[in-house]
Amino acid sequence: MTAAAQHPGQYTPDDHATWATLVRTRMTTLGHTAADEVLNGIETIGLTPGRVPMLSELNARLTPRTGWQVVPVTGYLNPREFFSFLADRRFPSTTHVRPADQLEYIPSPDIFHDVFGHVPLHADPTFAELLQRFGLLGSRATSDDAMEAVQRLFWFTVEFGLVGSVDNARIYGSGLVSSIAEERHALGGTCTLRPFVLETVLQQSFEVDVVQPTLFVLPHFRALRDAVDRLAGQLPGPDTPMIS
Ligand SMILES: [Fe+2]
Repeated sequence: MTAAAQHPGQYTPDDHATWATLVRTRMTTLGHTAADEVLNGIETIGLTPGRVPMLSELNARLTPRTGWQVVPVTGYLNPREFFSFLADRRFPSTTHVRPADQLEYIPSPDIFHDVFGHVPLHADPTFAELLQRFGLLGSRATSDDAMEAVQRLFWFTVEFGLVGSVDNARIYGSGLVSSIAEERHALGGTCTLRPFVLETVLQQSFEVDVVQPTLFVLPHFRALRDAVDRLAGQLPGPDTPMIS
């Protein structure tokens, strides 16, 4: 992984057109499928179909609100590096746009997944705080088993989580917010939705390149903050203090 820069000139007219198509497609359903915190965040940080956003412009809206900033990176981040960013309220984002012929599925994240999928929630004070706690938790996961537990909790919440109730669930996970196909699967009856229970989530394995047979519904984001803190209390390792 290396730090990267983002320049307006790196994007072609096709890149901007792809971004516009993706935003417009997602906004056709998010109004009645996404959590209010996601919708408010999209408006707060100013995401529009107009053009690929510059991270500096997003940060000008985001950082004064919650202290989070999006930083451009390129290449692979190992889990420890990734969580170290989060512990510092910095979210590492790719800057490239997916090819126009891969609108629905890409094997690794692009800026639409990273920014449109993740960053709106960083403008929500409760989520902003719990995501930093996630970073501190991942930073102190010193064994493979501990890191696997942290990654499972992250996958079934930040990446593919829903909130509300099983019968009235709204999406907030980035993989759902950024993909109408994943949203259809999660809410269309082919996926089993279960109430979020930390112990159950930690027993649920996942594969990154298949649709999930089971997803979990948080009652509210404070429950995720409490789950992160409970898992932190169960991990062995250096006595790194959590924020209070
Ligand atoms: Fe993601």
